[in-house]
Amino acid sequence: MGALDGRVILITGAARGQGEQEARLFVAEGGRVVLGDVLDEQGQALAGELGEERAVYVHLDVSQEEQWLSAVDTATGAFGALDGLVNNAGILRFNELASTPLAEFQQVVQVNQVGAFLGMRTVVPALAAAGGGTIINTASVAALSGMALLTSYAATKAAIVGMTRVAALELAAKRIRVNAICPGAIDTPMTNPAQLDPNAHASAAGRESVGEAAAPDEMYRRLVPIGRIGRPQEVAKLALFLTSEDSSYITGQPFVIDGGWLAGVSVF
Ligand SMILES: NC(=O)c1ccc[n+]([C@@H]2O[C@H](COP(=O)([O-])OP(=O)(O)OC[C@H]3O[C@@H](n4cnc5c(N)ncnc54)[C@H](O)[C@@H]3O)[C@@H](O)[C@H]2O)c1
Repeated sequence: MGALDGRVILITGAARGQGEQEARLFVAEGGRVVLGDVLDEQGQALAGELGEERAVYVHLDVSQEEQWLSAVDTATGAFGALDGLVNNAGILRFNELASTPLAEFQQVVQVNQVGAFLGMRTVVPALAAAGGGTIINTASVAALSGMALLTSYAATKAAIVGMTRVAALELAAKRIRVNAICPGAIDTPMTNPAQLDPNAHASAAGRESVGEAAAPDEMYRRLVPIGRIGRPQEVAKLALFLTSEDSSYITGQPFVIDGGWLAGVSVF
């Protein structure tokens, strides 16, 4: 028996990174998944690998209201119902506050914050019709602690935690639980462009962290008490817990998964 037997979950940004690992784990646990992304080729390939009985890909730019409606239609059309959403899609831009162009700030808000809002709002009727469900919003440690160069990103991730709490209050009566995940540094193409292009270098400034140009492994060994960057599979396990009945009495909370990074200042 899997933890998600009989459940249908829509995952955004599912073509790669954490979303991909969530899709793989959810299917391994008996769930059926709808993969939404703007990377159509990768998303379709993943859905094909997982099998048409278990996975379907839909082009979903989370910043576009009408694409959310067709994604939910795809889910209910393919699998008969929708029981959960993982708002995972996100983008990251580095800039100093004083030099952040308005267009860049608004782009990050449009994808990360408006995307999560549209997703929650659009799935509520389907989740309610299914008798209840779960929503996970992917925030970040940047929602809870300051990080230089991340004004726009941190703004959206803090907003996601705020929306998570309000949604949990409003939707509890419909038996919909809403929680947030706050990852620290996780090894995906967002933090490590070398995963996409072996010739690219993942400089310290290209990672969601502060630090000099130390080699990334050494940087994480110093910064993170557990001594390494996190794996997307580890985040997927938290998403599984919050999507399954194992977390039946948990709603409205941000869950930090960061190897201890936010626990305090290390003196050694
Ligand atoms: N990697 C980290 O260190 C880290 C840390 C904290 C939070 N996060 C968050 O975790 C989530 C997943 O990121 P990841 O690390 O897997 O990065 P990633 O860049 O590998 O994956 C992000 C996915 O979102 C998709 N996406 C981007 N814009 C989209 C849009 N408009 N509509 C639909 N899909 C879109 C991308 O195509 C990609 O598949 C993001 O919300 C990110 O902000 C990541």
